[in-house]
Amino acid sequence: MARSMTFLILFSILALAPMCYCGRTYGGYLYPQYYDYSCPQAEDIVMSVVAKAVAKEARMAASLLRVHFHDCFVQGCDGSILLDSTGTMPSEKRSNPNRKSARGFEVIEEIKAALEEQCPHTVSCADILALAARDSTVLMGGRSWEVPLGRKDSRGASLTLSNLNIPAPNDTFPILLNKFNRQGLDIIDLVTLSGSHTIGNARCTAFRQRLYDQSGDDQPDSRLDQSYASQLRATCPRSGGDQNLFVLDNVTPTAFDNSYFKNLLAYRGLLSSDQVLFTSNKESIELVKKYAKDNEVFLQQFAASMVKMGNILPSTGSRGEIRKICRKINS
Ligand code: HEM
Ligand SMILES: *[C@@H]1O[C@H](CO)[C@@H](O)[C@H](O)[C@H]1NC(C)=O
Repeated sequence: MARSMTFLILFSILALAPMCYCGRTYGGYLYPQYYDYSCPQAEDIVMSVVAKAVAKEARMAASLLRVHFHDCFVQGCDGSILLDSTGTMPSEKRSNPNRKSARGFEVIEEIKAALEEQCPHTVSCADILALAARDSTVLMGGRSWEVPLGRKDSRGASLTLSNLNIPAPNDTFPILLNKFNRQGLDIIDLVTLSGSHTIGNARCTAFRQRLYDQSGDDQPDSRLDQSYASQLRATCPRSGGDQNLFVLDNVTPTAFDNSYFKNLLAYRGLLSSDQVLFTSNKESIELVKKYAKDNEVFLQQFAASMVKMGNILPSTGSRGEIRKICRKINS
């Protein structure tokens, strides 16, 4: 009897598994229909607040997309980036990649407030980030995808891991790839997701090094188009102007398309971490060429890689909570 039960359970798991479009990482299950009964209006609410924010300021789409990435690379996609500092825990908002840079937190909080009104204590802040990243992509002209849902919010944050795990704009190709590999992401995900830099801005501090002294010999980065470099130097001086903003894709700065990859072919990538995708590794170079040639192929793979990144779950699995407000754990 016990044996046939075990068999039945095993059989059900094996038979049903292929039908389930879900991300399974570290024992957690995510699936797009997670809120279908508990909060059927969840996706509409997220989209309406994101659309309003992006209509007010197009850059907000880029900022929201980036916050999801910076959340997922630190203890998994668990909303840890959203927590403010407490007496015992410094916020990830203070890390090198996030300080004076990560933005959009008030939009996330506005979505959360709207959701708490309609379906109290139901939709996690981590899921809001995943949905807002998808909606931001779509609003700028990218393809849509189904977002697996059911994440839980963390009870803590890690400033240390935020500094350690999130790639830096002057990382070499092997370091970038290593940081993605450590998250279970591969070279295809690295090149494809870097295509996010088809929208949004970067500050002068993020690329000054390559304009003046890329490798300690007082020379600009040789893998940078020199007329583009002098254009950049005009508003990103050797010192001062740290926070001056530049578009990451200066051909179609607010369209989610493949022009980022075309820029790399012309040595007009803004960050060193962008340009190395076309100068350091054969497989990566081929991917850049492929996406530069075919927008549709890029957009399709982007959707797939976003689902994969969104499936990075915390090692604590499904433990965690649904926060009432995103910047604070429940008391
Ligand atoms: C491959 C390694 C990556 C590096 C080194 C990197 C680095 C950076 C840097 C330095 C900035 C400018 C920040 C500032 O100056 O304030 C930036 C902006 C941005 N990044 Fe990345 N990034 C990487 C991958 C990604 C990924 C995977 C995504 C999304 C899935 C992403 C999305 C964005 C977006 C949308 C912006 C513009 C944000 C805004 O305008 O507010 N990046 N990135
Ligand atoms: C990368 O940039 C950081 C911050 O500006 C700097 O401290 C570090 O030395 C740079 N690394 C390399 C390899 O140039």
